[in-house]
Amino acid sequence: MRLSELKRSNVDSSKSNFKIIGLDDEIGIIKTLNVLLDREGYYFKGYTDHVEAIEDIKNNDYGLLILDYLLLNINAKEVVEIIRSFNKELYILLLTGHSECAPPMETLDKNDIQGYCTKSDDPRQLLLMVKSAFKSISMMNDIRLTRNGLDSILKSVPRIYQLQPIDIILEEILSNILNIVHSADAFILVDRLEGTEENSKESIYRGIGKYNIDIETFTTLFNPLQMMFAGSARMNSQVVKHEGGVFFPLLNDKRESIGVIFVDALDEKYISLLEVFSNQAASSINNAFLHSMINIKNSELKMTYEIIRTRYEETVDTLRLAVDAKDEYTRGHSDRVSKYAVEIAKCFSHLTEHDYNLLRVGGTFHDIGKIGTADDILLSDRKLSDSEFHEIQKHPLTGAKILSALSMFQDTVPLVLCHHERVDGSGYPNRLKGDEIPFLARILSVADAFDAMTTNRVYRSKLPLEAAMAQLQKGAGTQFDPDIVEKFVDLLRSGAIKLDE
Ligand SMILES: [Fe+2]
Repeated sequence: MRLSELKRSNVDSSKSNFKIIGLDDEIGIIKTLNVLLDREGYYFKGYTDHVEAIEDIKNNDYGLLILDYLLLNINAKEVVEIIRSFNKELYILLLTGHSECAPPMETLDKNDIQGYCTKSDDPRQLLLMVKSAFKSISMMNDIRLTRNGLDSILKSVPRIYQLQPIDIILEEILSNILNIVHSADAFILVDRLEGTEENSKESIYRGIGKYNIDIETFTTLFNPLQMMFAGSARMNSQVVKHEGGVFFPLLNDKRESIGVIFVDALDEKYISLLEVFSNQAASSINNAFLHSMINIKNSELKMTYEIIRTRYEETVDTLRLAVDAKDEYTRGHSDRVSKYAVEIAKCFSHLTEHDYNLLRVGGTFHDIGKIGTADDILLSDRKLSDSEFHEIQKHPLTGAKILSALSMFQDTVPLVLCHHERVDGSGYPNRLKGDEIPFLARILSVADAFDAMTTNRVYRSKLPLEAAMAQLQKGAGTQFDPDIVEKFVDLLRSGAIKLDE
């Protein structure tokens, strides 16, 4: 039987939210508890029937049960066991008639009963126990709320840190605020970072609940007083409460204000949780801005790269002209070697566009070292002496040294250095054998020799195509890599490569 539902008459709202239920056979005890607890500002319901009391506990959120240890129809232990089968959180306080009737410790422990006190004329002991229970439960609730809130924050962090457009990040932040604090109305106002968009001074606004309006409508509703509170939160980098709502500042890595979050009708207990979340939100917004700045920087870098590339090509042309100017007979030779080398490379599936490019540049510069060779040796139409031949053989190393001076040619250096090596180890300058010679240099070697054979030189006339192919095949395995010769001859036979006239 329900006896009473008392009015709350105190100033401590959290105390009145703390619900106490009582179960005792003696109606006098229930009435006394009513008076006592009401006077102290607690919410209390009392029962003399255990079935009704248990049912009420099942259906309502009670914090404390004051339970008579000696009930007539049922053992208090059994009542506790039934309650514990569906509610582990309820704080239980046993009331005993006499101190000698106190329940054994084992019973208290086993059923998770938090305390007991004797029924006496002096209510102070009971009130102290109730107060202590209230404090414990409040603390537990705070811990639970913080734990759940932090859990929500942890879950939301990966989402808000995903690199998405800023508008989507702001919406994520707002919907996560709702999850954490169970508030319906909130907005976020952020300064667009300079340099991220054309309208760099613009503010970005997003709202939910009653703030789900466009920024123009928002500015007409945002009164000067609210602006002052928002400004104060930003200027002082601190939380500011205003008419039930709370402003949270958003700060960047340098602790400068980048915006503000406002949550309407926010319970105070959520403030520190939302401070934690605001810091995460600010970081994610900052990341998004930095990312869009990086994109802009990337496009600037692309432009710079284009300028470098143009200058690089100009450098290539200048150097090539210098080589070609030395020897009119070799004019065009480097271009053709590049062309043949790239065509050969395309027959090998493990080579990439980067390799083709290296061969293009390598072909262009393979003989650049001849700049350092005396004209009378280079242009001689007589048989060269050993020392003159030795002089000519220096050109791969001289070329490698010239190109090493420029970082943009670093990858081309091995090709230029090794283009006169032979797979049998009898080449120059380092007498490398087989795989010791870089594969791209082996390609260059075939292309170079073929073009030398098929163009007129001061000391001999060019060979016909068939004879040149036969020469290549003859040199396969000694001078040249046989796989490369095979592919090249196939290309020539199929007509995929034609000789320049
Ligand atoms: Fe050469």
